[in-house]
Amino acid sequence: MAQLSQDQLKAEVGRAAIRYVTPGTIIGVGTGSTVAYFIEALGEMPSPVAGAVSSSERSTAALRALGIPVLDANEVDHLDLYVDGADEIDPNGCMIKGGGGALTREKIVSSLAERFVCIADASKRVDVLGTFPLPVEVVPMAEASVVRRFAAGVLGTSGTAVLRRNDDGTPYVTDNGQHILDVRGLRIDDPLAMESAVNDWPGVVTVGIFARQRASLCLLGTPDGVATLT
Ligand code: 5RP
Repeated sequence: MAQLSQDQLKAEVGRAAIRYVTPGTIIGVGTGSTVAYFIEALGEMPSPVAGAVSSSERSTAALRALGIPVLDANEVDHLDLYVDGADEIDPNGCMIKGGGGALTREKIVSSLAERFVCIADASKRVDVLGTFPLPVEVVPMAEASVVRRFAAGVLGTSGTAVLRRNDDGTPYVTDNGQHILDVRGLRIDDPLAMESAVNDWPGVVTVGIFARQRASLCLLGTPDGVATLT
């Protein structure tokens, strides 16, 4: 049998997550190419969800295109389920997220949810977080100081933070009007401590470590099928 491509593995897990969705409920929806497959599958449910709280303009547009009502996060006080991808996930369900730039809203929406189902292809599974450049959303005037803090080191590791740019060289601007630093070279042995430490720095809006809001379970797309990691 031919090997499934990374994209096919994303499609498999995106579809597999539908089994955690209860028709008629409001769910939280993340952002990214894996989530795009999940949204597609949501649109095919015979009994649809009542609505979704979305983590990005991109996912909002995709949900609305399928006729799925999108609610503002301020309109809900609790979600049973949040489904999202990850850039890296460790054995404890701690993740690096934000490769797609939606980390802040992803953290807000996932904080409302009882259960975080992570959908990812097998390449995202790591033993220690940090090989994927850590996204940090920052207020522009704090960029240089945050770059210096990473260079000086935090919790025994240091990294090189670089401003994320668009193809035309202009700074990437998030849905919240802020910038993103991508930090290379970190070894994140204690995700919870690192999340707290970086979150405390002035001007940091959100660090893309999801340790407080780790995944409750992960559907991992592997060449042998979808594995459920709990
Ligand atoms: C967006 C994210 C995504 O979940 C993450 O980047 C994974 O994306 P993809 O499913 O496209 O690989 O955190 O901010």
